[in-house]
Amino acid sequence: MQPINLFEYEQLAKQHLSQMALDYYSSGAWDEITLRDNRAAFERIKLRPRMLVDVSDRNLTTSILGQPLELPLLIAPMAFQCLAHPDGEIATATAAASAGVGMILSTLATKTIEEVAAVRQNFPNALQWFQLYIHKDKSLTRALVERAYTAGYKALCLTVDAPVLGQRERDRRNEFSLPLGLHAANLATVSDLDIPHAPGESGLFTYFAQQLNPALTWKDLAWLQSICPLPLVIKGILRGDDAVRAVECGVKAIVVSNHGGRQLDGAIASLDALAEIVAAVDSRAEVLLDGGIRRGTDILKGLALGAKAVLIGRPILWGLAVAGIGGVSHILSLLEHELSLAMALSGCQTLQDIDPSLITPPQG
Ligand code: FNR
Ligand code: LAC
Repeated sequence: MQPINLFEYEQLAKQHLSQMALDYYSSGAWDEITLRDNRAAFERIKLRPRMLVDVSDRNLTTSILGQPLELPLLIAPMAFQCLAHPDGEIATATAAASAGVGMILSTLATKTIEEVAAVRQNFPNALQWFQLYIHKDKSLTRALVERAYTAGYKALCLTVDAPVLGQRERDRRNEFSLPLGLHAANLATVSDLDIPHAPGESGLFTYFAQQLNPALTWKDLAWLQSICPLPLVIKGILRGDDAVRAVECGVKAIVVSNHGGRQLDGAIASLDALAEIVAAVDSRAEVLLDGGIRRGTDILKGLALGAKAVLIGRPILWGLAVAGIGGVSHILSLLEHELSLAMALSGCQTLQDIDPSLITPPQG
């Protein structure tokens, strides 16, 4: 039976993944409080639908950093997608492009920057961004950035919530490492940069500790901007003052995110952090949201609280695991249909109609 929602995909995906891959994909850090709260936050928010609006035609299109999208949706950067399906990031990129949804390629992808960019030969308008992890080795970071620019990615998405990797205890137990034949494809040219096997520890945790730069500060944004003309997006902001700082550094978009509950356990649910950040940014940058989005109504709630679009993470991996490109396409079409229905039921013809009054009672 074909799944009819994203939760059913998650259940089905369990039959298609190794235990190590399933644990890596699904885990949050430590007690997974933030992971659960990301979902609970959406369930806490209640809607105030508007009635007697002509909703016979709904328009779900938008643009992000000037690029058009069919839906206010991007696929979050996620490492190692070939653990789910041999086509990995290429399937994800192709499904995203054909649905008119954005895709952010992880530094830790299992397909190369150039292979994924080649998907644009068939979909020239596809929105593709490159997610950057800054290594201690500056020349390696510079090479990644230059490759992304040359390959035509339209923004650099710097992830700032992982100076070290969060501790996911199932990965630690499993001594997570990549199976034979899989590599971090954009780093594997230098063999000692591959994900190591680490006794008693996740190999990825060890990789971060050895290779990534935990000393990164706001000052480094200027360096990044000096080596690459692409607009800078910052992912992993949870406070208004940090968002203001990002805007002052010339950042063009901010992703409000706690990394899907995988970094600091006990961090605020990303949806709960959104309104403060939207107010602090005050339209000086675009604000995006991720963490726990599983239904069209979740997208509606995120947009009502001020996000321009949302990123979706794990469900894409469930779709990939179940049916490769077809699974990802189906996940995206389920979300599109649910968002369209949720808009109809709340009296919204366009995304601009999704305003804060759908949630907050008017003051005064
Ligand atoms: C991630 N995430 C992530 N983020 C990032 O900036 N670079 C990365 O390489 C990864 N890798 C990664 C792998 C896996 C398996 C997961 C589940 C997540 C975080 C991701 O971009 C996003 O913030 C969250 O996944 C969003 O939450 P949901 O939709 O998964 O609840
Ligand atoms: C993760 C890293 C790779 O969440 O971002 O696993």
